[in-house]
Amino acid sequence: MATLGAYLSEQRDRHLSELKDVLAIPSISTDPTRAADVKRAAEWMHGRLESAGCTRVATHSTPFHPIVYGEWLGAAGRPTILVYGHFDVQPVDPLELWHSPPFEPTVRDGRIYARGSSDDKGQVITHVLALEAHLRTSGTCPVNVKFLLEGEEEVGSESVEAFLKAHARELACDAVVVSDTAMFSKRLPSIVYGLRGLTYLEVLVRGSDSDLHSGSFGGAVINPANALVGMLARLKDAKGRVTIPGFYDKVRRLTAAERKAFRALPHSDQALRRSIGAPDLFGEAGYTSLERMWARPSLDINGIWSGFTGKGAKTVIPAEARAKVSMRLVPDQTSAEIARKAAAYLKKIAPKAVKTTVEELHGGPAWVAPTDHPAMRAASRAIRRAFGKAPVFVREGGSIPIVASFERTLGVPAVLMGFGLQDDNLHAPNEKFDLDQFYRGIEASAFLMEELGQPNGAKKPARRR
Ligand code: BES
Ligand code: ZN
Repeated sequence: MATLGAYLSEQRDRHLSELKDVLAIPSISTDPTRAADVKRAAEWMHGRLESAGCTRVATHSTPFHPIVYGEWLGAAGRPTILVYGHFDVQPVDPLELWHSPPFEPTVRDGRIYARGSSDDKGQVITHVLALEAHLRTSGTCPVNVKFLLEGEEEVGSESVEAFLKAHARELACDAVVVSDTAMFSKRLPSIVYGLRGLTYLEVLVRGSDSDLHSGSFGGAVINPANALVGMLARLKDAKGRVTIPGFYDKVRRLTAAERKAFRALPHSDQALRRSIGAPDLFGEAGYTSLERMWARPSLDINGIWSGFTGKGAKTVIPAEARAKVSMRLVPDQTSAEIARKAAAYLKKIAPKAVKTTVEELHGGPAWVAPTDHPAMRAASRAIRRAFGKAPVFVREGGSIPIVASFERTLGVPAVLMGFGLQDDNLHAPNEKFDLDQFYRGIEASAFLMEELGQPNGAKKPARRR
């Protein structure tokens, strides 16, 4: 049999063509007309887990999108990892800005362009291919592997949260492995030890029962659009601080050691500014950009709409105005408390002449983990072997709320070993996944299985008495 390394380099073309297959499925979870495609992506994953050598694979239907579970448990006495990932993707609009169609995966300059390439189908299959590589080259795998793949990550993971609670026994493991994040840069591999949490709200401001002629009524009634933008403008001050009373009450302060570690990273505000093409950066006074993105909470309007937005002019006072507002959270803020405080403040500052409703769409807590756990150290060794350089530990500003749920429900550590890059255009046009990162990611996953399979590779050493 070929060695693992030789096998993986031999199989590159096949791995790439399989990646293209799954990226061609438009599994947009938020779009009800794409539900059959999300199901197709689940079926693809189901089949691929079977052909990789999983001995039991099951697709569970849920009230929304299916969950795919797979396992290979042939390494008696060895640790078990649970690989989590998602096969749903974000919407693709604005479509006209894509250089190649989002569901026709296209390789340019060593990168594959397609929606879901980095977030998360391309990343998740690295682990499926790694298990398969072990089984095909040695007939066994150094650890037991379970997979939990879902189709609702981009819309809040509601079904998988429930599944986790109901199937905690079946999902028992020594560590959870997730590849749904990016590395610091291609030259500096990293492991993520912190994510921000999220509270997502939709605000509705209603004035009259129906739209009104702005000549007949203008000046004598309130305009809900004016009212809403006035309210939203009061959520942050000019220095970038959120003004919702109590918003910062539970925010854990950055430690001196963490601030020092962030400052030691090769980050440039200039380069960040240029990479996004903005005239300047802006954020909470007193913090660096990395601190603002990774360890401070934030608030953003994600969408706002009301009245007439077509071509030309229409003189109208809209009956209602709406906005989607989300807040990124840090330890120890809780989503429920922040949602309550935000809703109360919005209602308090709303003019008397409108009716305001605030709906909580979804949310989840931030996650920060110790970096010295044996599973983290094993991941660090695996990355050094695959990427030729020891990884640094970083935090990320994005959210994967289920990570904290895994730790809480299963009582095991999570390792966030992502292979994306900062310029992967997640949730934006021209999402891509760097193919070097893909191939090295498969290696890193295979090495992680080896490292965790070492005696005590995944276990905390027993305390000496
Ligand atoms: N892969 C991302 C999470 C992510 C983004 C990690 C950026 C690190 C950096 C994930 O698929 C995602 O987009 N999550 C959502 C949260 C979810 C509850 C909708 C997010 O962060 O907006
Ligand atoms: Zn995403």
